[in-house]
Amino acid sequence: MGKLEICNSFKKLNNFFFKMFVEGNQNKEDAFKKKGLVNILSPGRVNIIGEHTDYNLGLSINTAINKYIFIAGYENETDYVEVFSRYLNDSNKFSLSDIKFDKNTHWINYIKGVLNEYIKHGYKIGGFNIVVDSNLPIGAGVSSSASLEVGVAKFIEELFNLKINKIDTVKLCNSAENNFVGVNCGFMDQFSVAYGKENYVIYLNFKDLSYEYIPFDLEDNLILIINSKEERNLVNTEYNKRRKECNDAVQLIAKIVKNKNIKSLSDIGLDLLNELEDKIPEKLFKRVKHVVTENNRVLLSKEYLFKGDIEKLGKVLFESHNSLRYDYEVSTERLDYLVDEMSEIKGVYGGRLMGAGFGGSIISIVKKSEIDSITNIVGEKFLKKFNVSPDFIECLFSDGTRRLRFKDI
Ligand code: GLA
Repeated sequence: MGKLEICNSFKKLNNFFFKMFVEGNQNKEDAFKKKGLVNILSPGRVNIIGEHTDYNLGLSINTAINKYIFIAGYENETDYVEVFSRYLNDSNKFSLSDIKFDKNTHWINYIKGVLNEYIKHGYKIGGFNIVVDSNLPIGAGVSSSASLEVGVAKFIEELFNLKINKIDTVKLCNSAENNFVGVNCGFMDQFSVAYGKENYVIYLNFKDLSYEYIPFDLEDNLILIINSKEERNLVNTEYNKRRKECNDAVQLIAKIVKNKNIKSLSDIGLDLLNELEDKIPEKLFKRVKHVVTENNRVLLSKEYLFKGDIEKLGKVLFESHNSLRYDYEVSTERLDYLVDEMSEIKGVYGGRLMGAGFGGSIISIVKKSEIDSITNIVGEKFLKKFNVSPDFIECLFSDGTRRLRFKDI
């Protein structure tokens, strides 16, 4: 999505906001100026490689993409927050002094969770009205939830002039998802959304959240996301169970090898991994194997990125998928089918399931010139097999969540 399209989307959103929330026959420009309309653009994310490594304090290479959530709004001088989602055609209203988890309206909990965290940490915020729109698919593994969280966080930071570091925004949004929404996710999603940079990917070490931008000029290639349309809700999946299995494995291994310095699976190297095979239950071994080898694949990918070797990078992506499929066991029939098919097609460097798994999307790196034939072949075969057409999303790397100022709204 280019600058002009973004600008047009905000024009439409602001007009919608005006019709929805501005009373009487006020002049639009005056009303917006007086109230200080805030426009926030918040991207989705891709994870090139390093899956299920974040909560194991490992490594990944991820970034923001040029598909977004759009937010427009201003203060309403009450204690209420009024939200309208254009994307879902749904609205919600709640009081800031009575923020409760909503069992029936799942999407509002991401907003409530963020506000709850900021209030808990002593930030002074008041009521506001917002309209939210999106061209990020929900439940597809491109982090629409983190995009909404960081977008709302940035919105209140701008609206109420809160002074906060970007890394603390990431941490508060992550706590919102862990404490309020109930998914024990790691930092990858919120970090990518907040820290993305056009034409770069982020090499991130979750042990201390240190990071490095790596230039990734896609040149004649594209990142192609294929949405299997198998929706999953992380709270109800095995995601939290995998986290627990990893914690159990850490404790067991630290005991077996009598090494207190093993605090996470990322403290285990390939040598130790080989020694562990007969010493811990098979299922736990497979989880550990995925994390240890995945960290290694991230290191290799970093090297290939610096060398500009997309062929080798692509192969590592396929290997990552196999590890997620057979060792971490978070794949599905549809995701396996997509990756298997892609591995047979000309112009595809590599691909793998992206995000938590259990449905959602795969990420692939493909040649731009082959895009039509790739989408035709895969689209037709997938439709025949599963009776659903997958969605193809071509994307580029983008800057992170930001406020946009338009002089001519
Ligand atoms: C989800 C979580 C992330 C990460 C991935 C798997 O996207 O939100 O924190 O754990 O799954 O890599």
